[in-house]
Amino acid sequence: MGVAASAPAKIILFGEHFVVYGEPAIVLAIDKRVYANAETRDDKRLHICSKNLNLVGCFENGTFKVEHGDSKEARFKLEPIKLAAEKILEIHGERVGLNVEVSSTVPVAAGLGSSAAVAAAVTAAVGALLSVELSKEDLFRISYEAEKIVHGTPSGIDPAISTFGGTLLFQTDTGFKPLNVKNDVPLVIGDTRIGRSTRVLVEKVRNKRDKYPQIVESVMRVGREIVLRAIDALKEDDLQTLGDLMNLNHALLYGLGVSNEALEAFVSAARKSGALGAKLTGAGGGGCMIALAENEKLERVAKAIQRAGGRTFKARKTDEGVRIEQA
Ligand code: MEV
Repeated sequence: MGVAASAPAKIILFGEHFVVYGEPAIVLAIDKRVYANAETRDDKRLHICSKNLNLVGCFENGTFKVEHGDSKEARFKLEPIKLAAEKILEIHGERVGLNVEVSSTVPVAAGLGSSAAVAAAVTAAVGALLSVELSKEDLFRISYEAEKIVHGTPSGIDPAISTFGGTLLFQTDTGFKPLNVKNDVPLVIGDTRIGRSTRVLVEKVRNKRDKYPQIVESVMRVGREIVLRAIDALKEDDLQTLGDLMNLNHALLYGLGVSNEALEAFVSAARKSGALGAKLTGAGGGGCMIALAENEKLERVAKAIQRAGGRTFKARKTDEGVRIEQA
């Protein structure tokens, strides 16, 4: 019998990139989830299928055999799933063959944290299958290890939100604090459908910071002020201020070179059609942007982003982090 688990995708409202350097960021889990299914098999192989990436591979005794898709891509993209499953096998203490299948309603490589959600869902599914007791902190730690394979030096914000859900104020040194946001934050997500690598974009910011340390540190300080002000605006449901702060945050990210033409077109279309604020979300360089608008204007803003070439969807925040769907 298999076990299914799921974990949510996320949007970063404020503070992406700066969070890698210890600044605070605000992130919320959204009602788009990644699903993982795990079952035992009779041999000792670890068989992994990623439905969305169309990749299938099998690990056995340190060797990897691709069964579907490009071999290099399969090895790289299935590796974090393998790591998550193997960490659980290690704790379990006995080598067991596994079939792990992942599917998702989250666009991949779009800044919505799909890889962290995959890691969290796989860890939870394999853990429950093998009756390994895992606290949320354990799930977070294992997902974070898996995330490091994908992104190099991630802050941990993606695995944290996929594990714990809700709305979090996240900081690398102090950890995270749930923010009590009562009302919905009315948002449209615009997807450029341009895939990109978080690792490369994080490096791009690092290079800017190495070249202009004082300037980039000042930019990051402004980023921190934006987050601190946004905490109050979220609590007070002050959408006007939140919108202004999103525009300011986007300007900083644009200055650091992580926006692109499509994101600029969508941000501008959203603002012109009545959004209170718009910004890229996640690593940038493609991927997704978000626009904040009063509920009655959301549809108009979505249409404007579509006319500019984007695929749009509405996102609602969700309190639920990783969870077992079926045991
Ligand atoms: C990626 O979702 C967010 C970044 O800040 C990288 C990270 O925090 O690991 C760009």
